[in-house]
Amino acid sequence: MKSALILGVTGQDGSYLADFLLKKGYNVYGSFRRTSHRLFERLEYFDILDKINLVKLDLTDPISINKVIKETQPDELYNLAAQSFVGISFDQPILTTNVNATGALSVFETVKESSNHTKIYQASSSEMFGNSNEIKNEFSRMNPASPYGVSKVFAHKTAQHYREAYGLFATCGILFNHESPLRGLEFVTRKITHNIARIKLGYDKKLFLGNIDAKRDWGFAGDYVKAMWQMLQQDKSSDYVVATGESHSVKDFLDYAFDYSGLGDWKDFVEIDKKYFRPQDIDDLVGDATKAEKELGWKPSITFKKLIEMMVDSDIKLINEHVF
Ligand code: NAP
Ligand code: GDD
Repeated sequence: MKSALILGVTGQDGSYLADFLLKKGYNVYGSFRRTSHRLFERLEYFDILDKINLVKLDLTDPISINKVIKETQPDELYNLAAQSFVGISFDQPILTTNVNATGALSVFETVKESSNHTKIYQASSSEMFGNSNEIKNEFSRMNPASPYGVSKVFAHKTAQHYREAYGLFATCGILFNHESPLRGLEFVTRKITHNIARIKLGYDKKLFLGNIDAKRDWGFAGDYVKAMWQMLQQDKSSDYVVATGESHSVKDFLDYAFDYSGLGDWKDFVEIDKKYFRPQDIDDLVGDATKAEKELGWKPSITFKKLIEMMVDSDIKLINEHVF
């Protein structure tokens, strides 16, 4: 039986990946942070909480990283743990850097020293590219536009360095935005679908947003965790872009989500609030996943419209069941 350690198992991707690996017969270890409130709702959604070996780890604490990796000696390690919200990274740049950059470095160093058979997946991001007009691939210029993006470039380059200098199997998945019914509530897609459900069921009247001209390449998290696993089944480590190849604006998302929900024209419900604008933003991100398709056989299975339908349906169901 293969073993996998997922850092950040409580997150959106962590829970989808844990479910995926358990179905493949893996022994799954998953890291969580101590908090004063419950945090396993995504694992409960998949009904897998009791199937995961939970381990306590914080990326800002190298001692915990060391202990967990030494004790578990996993065949595969997925570093999904991060301060993942770009917006807050402008307010908490040092925390973001400590977690996403220095934390990743501690993971690579620990694997090198005490578990060097372990294959590592590093969660790199399209946010590393910043603004430019081209469709992004593995060779595109990195010009990050947020402390989050900068921290991810550090981790990405460090993974490449450990690969080249020490022969570590450290693969970076450069994933474009991926969403699901389990997406965090502050990200724009889930914020929209959650608020549509609240408006539809009479709990709210308005939805406040920022830069709705921004465009992103939105895919489905369930498809993207499969690509992560496929990357670690290769003989050599590398970098892969994972994307749908289509970009849509936040306005496009609003158009279809409001229409599908039956609420009608989003302009009757949406107001722009300056506080949701960022000091710097990326206008448009679209990725070219040709390498992932050729080498991994990976393709997205869920369309933009289907993704929105899943998220709207799920949020209406949750609010109906009084899960806020
Ligand atoms: P997410 O839902 O925010 O999950 C992040 C996970 O990291 C959570 O389990 C969180 O724990 C954990 N975490 C946060 N700070 C930590 C710390 N100091 N020590 C240990 N764990 C910590 O993010 P996601 O959407 O699943 O994304 C997974 C990874 O992919 C992240 O690295 C993200 O930056 C990257 N990524 C995401 C996307 C996307 O569109 N989703 C695209 C490209 C790259 P708590 O539950 O305790 O907060
Ligand atoms: N969150 C949010 N809230 N974003 C808004 C809002 C709002 O009210 N209004 C407009 N936006 C715009 C943001 O300015 C941004 O241009 C776009 O919607 C998407 O924002 P997010 O959903 O927060 O995602 P992100 O693209 O910044 O970051 C996500 O994708 C990255 C990959 O490109 C995160 O998942 C990152 O962790 C990930 O690396």
